[in-house]
Amino acid sequence: MNDYLTNQKSETVKRFVVFEGGDGSGTSTQIELLRGKPHVWTTREPTDSLIGCLIRSALRGEITLHPETLTRLFSADRNEHLFAKGGVIDRCNQGDLVVSDRYTLSSLVYQGVLCGDLPFKLNEDFPLPELLFFLDIDPQIAMRRIENRSDREIYEYLEFQELVRERYKSLVPQWQQKGVRVIVIDASEPIEAIARKVAQEIDALRKE
Ligand code: TYD
Repeated sequence: MNDYLTNQKSETVKRFVVFEGGDGSGTSTQIELLRGKPHVWTTREPTDSLIGCLIRSALRGEITLHPETLTRLFSADRNEHLFAKGGVIDRCNQGDLVVSDRYTLSSLVYQGVLCGDLPFKLNEDFPLPELLFFLDIDPQIAMRRIENRSDREIYEYLEFQELVRERYKSLVPQWQQKGVRVIVIDASEPIEAIARKVAQEIDALRKE
């Protein structure tokens, strides 16, 4: 997967923070803990828009979409998330810290497994965040967490999550080379310990 990010634009958006990691890595839990902090807007992809709802329905296996259709839907959803009025860019420009549960890296990692170059082409023009938290976890531990959930999704099985981890590990350093500040966190640590590390970074950004 070398040089896949060659065409990726290097522009980063100030005050834009992204959490990434395999399923069960706890990105949503950490983002939930940041909700309500002054001048912090928490958000997620897929979004709660109509496109996002369609995607979630496919992720739950209620409808079947061709993998390339799903890849295109993820980037359409992202385009609205970023550029719509009141979206990520607007909020960052107004001085808010925007914290998103997943972004382009999720498409490169997850859709990259089945769709090769397509997600790279569709996502290379989106700007990069200023800060990335990568919650890294052994897929076996993550699967034990997921197995307790009632609403399982199409990507939530061990073999796929092993590929996901491998792809994150190869792509995260490439984002770093493009100028993103990257914090790698051992996601098997207790929630509170991770939350402390996250809060330190977030508070430092809010003071800038
Ligand atoms: P997740 O973030 O775990 O939320 P939930 O709590 O609703 O399950 O699930 C979103 C899933 O979508 C996750 O498996 C990763 C996947 N995904 C992609 O495959 N590509 C993308 O571009 C994005 C944003 C998410």
